[in-house]
Amino acid sequence: MRRKMVAGNWKMNGTASALTELGNLAYSCKSAKAEVVICPPATLLYRAANVCVDSKVDIGAQDCHSATYGAHTGDLSAEMLHDAGASAVILGHSERRANHGETDDMVRAKARTAIAAGLTAIICVGETQDQREAGKTLEVVRAQLAGSLPDDTSGTNVVVAYEPVWAIGTGKVPTVEQIAEVHNDLRASLVKRFGGETANAIRLLYGGSVKSSNAKEIFAVAHVDGALVGGASLKAADFAPIVAALDASD
Ligand code: PGA
Repeated sequence: MRRKMVAGNWKMNGTASALTELGNLAYSCKSAKAEVVICPPATLLYRAANVCVDSKVDIGAQDCHSATYGAHTGDLSAEMLHDAGASAVILGHSERRANHGETDDMVRAKARTAIAAGLTAIICVGETQDQREAGKTLEVVRAQLAGSLPDDTSGTNVVVAYEPVWAIGTGKVPTVEQIAEVHNDLRASLVKRFGGETANAIRLLYGGSVKSSNAKEIFAVAHVDGALVGGASLKAADFAPIVAALDASD
């Protein structure tokens, strides 16, 4: 049985004043079933972890370096993020793939380091609008999945987030059939590569314009184990109903 998960990606938003809203969010998200992880900017990790210490909300980071330490000015290691209070890290988000040229190989190397540091690696895959229109969605997502996941996963330490690039921050959401098609295919690829036991322990999140108004129908799709939420994770009033919808799903 996979534990459901909602992860909130704050991206490059939030200074100390956002910690009050995080406190509200931690107070209003009392999910019994789901693991709830908020990923603030790295500057807030330590303080965010303290705000959430007695709550059911865990704290995650948005990226890490693939090396464990060394001459990498401006970068952060997985161990540092763990030390600051993170229990998870988002890797290979499409904004990092596009803005920082991150390749599947880089994402896989980061995931290995993150897992070794005790973090859950939330690995993102997803096609662009052009790729979908060219009928290449499954081909693209399969290749990203194959290249970005390390071989030595236990299943529970890796989460895959399917995030169509064209759905991120746009208000456009794929149909439930489109989500089902990709999630089924992801599960099948995982079973082929890792075997049933490990593959069935890997959670598959959907991400891209998830809101309280569409969460219920998305969570009803087979092989959707939760969501990676951007914009709607910044406010407790927007995020708590998404967590509640996941709690209410089968
Ligand atoms: P969005 O972002 O929910 O604002 O579309 C999702 C993401 O980028 O993870």
